[in-house]
Amino acid sequence: MKNKVVNKPRHIGIILDGNGRWAKKRNLPRIAGHKEGIFAVERMIKAACEEGIEVVSVYAFSTENWKRSRDEVDGIFALIDDAIDRNKDKLIENNIKLQIMGDKSRLSESLQDKINNLIELTKNNTGLIFNIGLNYGGRDEILRATNICREKYPNQEITKEMFEAELYTAGLPNLDFVIRTSGEMRLSNFMLYQAAYAEFYFPKTYWPDFNKRFLKKALKVYSKRNRRFGKV
Ligand code: IPE
Ligand code: IPE
Ligand code: MG
Repeated sequence: MKNKVVNKPRHIGIILDGNGRWAKKRNLPRIAGHKEGIFAVERMIKAACEEGIEVVSVYAFSTENWKRSRDEVDGIFALIDDAIDRNKDKLIENNIKLQIMGDKSRLSESLQDKINNLIELTKNNTGLIFNIGLNYGGRDEILRATNICREKYPNQEITKEMFEAELYTAGLPNLDFVIRTSGEMRLSNFMLYQAAYAEFYFPKTYWPDFNKRFLKKALKVYSKRNRRFGKV
């Protein structure tokens, strides 16, 4: 039997971008764009479950995003806090496993507790893995893994397996497909190690406009890519 989509990515990375511009276009404050952006993430996760995607990694807040105004940063974290409350039962019901990549220690204690609690509650779920980058940076991740390895194996040569086991994504497949919305064509420190052989897609859509059709279109684009991994 023929599948509708022939080559399906196992692991999709999303650099959600354009929240601010989406709001500006409507004469709204930037935070209104972030609010809609979170609703778009909820739609994305639902759609990814329906499409049978194994892992979705979403770049929610980078190690560089602290450079934004205090108001915007606080506003983003308040929205994330709300989103966790709103989606807690849904994640559990839908068999979704929550993971976080990034240094959580810079987040408020209460948010850390909430997140850790939900990670614990969903850890045995076997459906989609929803991996959120929060205070995440690819360089930070690589340095962190390097330092952990140095501590753990002071007198050994570090293998690829030993190194990868210390990345935030330990145990996850590599990225197959990276989508960055809003027309920007850069990684901005997103999953530098895991994206080594990923396919890239840069639609012009602002992230808050994401819908199910958009994912279908992206999967179609992916299915036409010819991945060679260095072979002929
Ligand atoms: C992405 O949207 C969300 C985060 C980086 C937190 P932006 O806030 O970067 O939106 P633009 O790029 O200003 O439009
Ligand atoms: C990347 O978007 C970070 C996230 C999506 C969380 P930015 O909007 O911060 O990236 P630059 O500054 O345009 O590269
Ligand atoms: Mg941006």
